[in-house]
Amino acid sequence: MAKRTFHPVNSPLTGELTVPGDKSISHRAVIFGSLAEGTTEITHFLHGEDCLRTIDAFRAMGVQIEVNEEKIIVHGKGASALEEPSRPINLGNSGTTARLLLGVLAGLPHHFVLYGDESLSRRPMDRVTVPLRQMGAEIDGRSDGKLLPLAIRGGQLQPISFEPPVKSAQVKSCVLLAGLLADGQTVITEKTPTRNHTETMLEGFGAKLDIQGDVISINGKQALKGTNVEVPGDISSAAFFAAAAALVPGSSLLLKRVGLNPTRTGILEVLKNMGVNLTILNEEVKGGEALGDIQIDYAPLKGTIIAGDLVPRLIDELPIVALLATQAEGETRIRDAEELRYKETDRIAAVTNTLKALGATVKPTEDGMIIQGKTPLRGGNTDSFGDHRIGMMAAIASLITEGEVTLTNPDCINISYPAFFNHLEKVTAVHS
Ligand code: S3P
Repeated sequence: MAKRTFHPVNSPLTGELTVPGDKSISHRAVIFGSLAEGTTEITHFLHGEDCLRTIDAFRAMGVQIEVNEEKIIVHGKGASALEEPSRPINLGNSGTTARLLLGVLAGLPHHFVLYGDESLSRRPMDRVTVPLRQMGAEIDGRSDGKLLPLAIRGGQLQPISFEPPVKSAQVKSCVLLAGLLADGQTVITEKTPTRNHTETMLEGFGAKLDIQGDVISINGKQALKGTNVEVPGDISSAAFFAAAAALVPGSSLLLKRVGLNPTRTGILEVLKNMGVNLTILNEEVKGGEALGDIQIDYAPLKGTIIAGDLVPRLIDELPIVALLATQAEGETRIRDAEELRYKETDRIAAVTNTLKALGATVKPTEDGMIIQGKTPLRGGNTDSFGDHRIGMMAAIASLITEGEVTLTNPDCINISYPAFFNHLEKVTAVHS
């Protein structure tokens, strides 16, 4: 297994970065573009492994998709033109591809077989197969459709009224997509808000949704129209460098054109609560999605509490927040985050083990962690556990450790941030 060794930096990080395109928005742009009639041009697309899986899935259904470094062009012909693939679809490591795609396939009169890598094959799919079966899709698979590989035969769907049993945008989006292809009105009640890119972007592709408080209704059989999407920078990727600047005394970093959709900006609130000096510049709204530049200046950190409705607004940032907490004055508590256990790896276990290996004092709980602050970190051996966000957390930790940090399986970082090591070198370069 590949390994990479990082050396601590003892001087401030400076400069500016344009982080890669948002993963959630990149997936959705390809999915909606493939369902739409007409051309969709996507700029600042995330060329990470997960999003390339989504492209591969729609190509397998006959959609012509041109992939260039600066632009993706999807030639949509409408949902009814999607064909039965002649081969099983490989979802790789991508939970978003799996859950959102299943919502689409449920509404198509074809047979599909889906499989993924070892990590994805452990992740729960019943959260989507249960409502899709209720709508009329035929699904078979391991553990009665709980786990990949799965076979699905879609077709005529009935609408449902659905309250997701877990706080998950993937589940909400899956049912919204199935609802878009069903006959009649599908209604979703979401007690805890999760990222709303599916709603904002479906509207951008011409669909009508009715959103009243926590109730989202969608009428089926609406045609989507191709459109252009400029993908904002991924706040979940930006968070790693925001944290880097917040950890290394004297740092000052500018993160450019980062997505600032309020359902995703929980991390900015937490950074501010922890004492980080953070300013938003050049804010604008494009295609229904807010974006702007984030200026981060180092300031001493203090502990915080993260719980309740805030959690889905920063679920992917909790590993890096845990690292920050090890350097904050006082204790940090993360609660209501049991969903961390169902990510690319069990992130409560992986974060705890990684930070402990570096000398931190972290206690895992059923639904979160308790982290003691102001603990000097030493070097050590870490493992990404095949999880891109755990790998990036370990690499950022190495900026402040006493000795070297070795990371086993760093390549999984390509899933969401192929330029991560280049960017890390760029902001630390002047000092090495
Ligand atoms: C995503 C939703 C989140 C997030 C994932 C991307 C999406 O998962 O962790 O990285 O694009 O909808 P859940 O909705 O399962 O929490």
